[in-house]
Amino acid sequence: MAKRILSGIQPTSDSFHLGNYLGALKQWVELQEGNDAFYCIVDLHALTGEIDPALLRKRILSSAAQLIALGISPDKSTLFVQSHVAEHNQLGWIMECIAGFGEANRMTQFKDKSAKGGADSARVGLFTYPMLQAADILLYQAHYVPVGEDQRQHIELTRDLATRFNTRFGETFRIPEGYILKSGAKIYDLQEPTNKMSKSSGSAAGVLEIMDTPEANAKKIKSATTDAGREVKFDEKEKPGISNLLTIHAALSGKKIGDLENEFAGKGYGDFKGAVAEVVVEYLRPIRARANELLEDERHLVQILHAGADKARTVASATVAQSYKNLGLVL
Ligand code: AMP
Ligand code: TRP
Repeated sequence: MAKRILSGIQPTSDSFHLGNYLGALKQWVELQEGNDAFYCIVDLHALTGEIDPALLRKRILSSAAQLIALGISPDKSTLFVQSHVAEHNQLGWIMECIAGFGEANRMTQFKDKSAKGGADSARVGLFTYPMLQAADILLYQAHYVPVGEDQRQHIELTRDLATRFNTRFGETFRIPEGYILKSGAKIYDLQEPTNKMSKSSGSAAGVLEIMDTPEANAKKIKSATTDAGREVKFDEKEKPGISNLLTIHAALSGKKIGDLENEFAGKGYGDFKGAVAEVVVEYLRPIRARANELLEDERHLVQILHAGADKARTVASATVAQSYKNLGLVL
């Protein structure tokens, strides 16, 4: 049976990185087959960080182009921008009125992000971020929410809020489930292979970006941190760098890690890194080209997004109407 899928990604960098792709976006592409998938560029969530209007605009468009280039088909899925569907704000407010201050205050992503800039400079929107995320999900009556491990707590909160609402005000929302890949989902920084690959990494050298040139990405892989040994073997504790490269190779080439270990037995790290670089570069080359092509015709790209928003709004407005009615608001 076709399942309703919902996920979102923030347009907060010029390029998605390989961790975003292997940890999340690859599943988005897979899940659009045979399901009813809604994929949202969560631009309103991006307002909880530093706002640079020119950059934000560019990144929203670039995110859309990359998602399509990575395989999200606007014919198979509903691809849209959050701010185009005002129902996100409408249900977001309802979720804020259902959530307790205490439970919102326990969100580790809020604690981490607000601690970084000093608690006093954190914006209110950063605090209410998970309630907007709950609205994103519940509006579409999603069965599954494909996300990385770091989003588990937000999905739990979403389930709690939906259950509370349904219990108190009557059946309104489907209780969604997280869809979290168990292994291979986490990609680490090439320079510091015990930290996850992240756009907020201290150095760009550890992050493989989809929109980077093939030469730049090949160079990053060839200068990835490894250990002093010689054996290409998956051992996350003793060999985090090599293990990370094995994970990346396997995920993109479709080969098994054990087979790769055999293939590179007796060869040095240099050969192995060269092979990983080639796999990554050839995988990303057509994707980057397609994204750049889409970005050249901005009007057409925005048309695709508006069409997605129209489809999304049909579902979202029905959910808002039902929740308003159950709350006793006069329609
Ligand atoms: P972010 O851009 O960090 O908000 O992440 C967007 C999506 O990519 C989320 O679903 C994350 O869980 C996932 N993600 C980000 N970084 C990684 C990583 N290094 N490995 C696996 N998944 C990741
Ligand atoms: N908070 C998510 C992240 O940082 C992004 C997001 C916003 C999201 N709304 C969502 C993810 C709804 C899944 C469903 O990755």
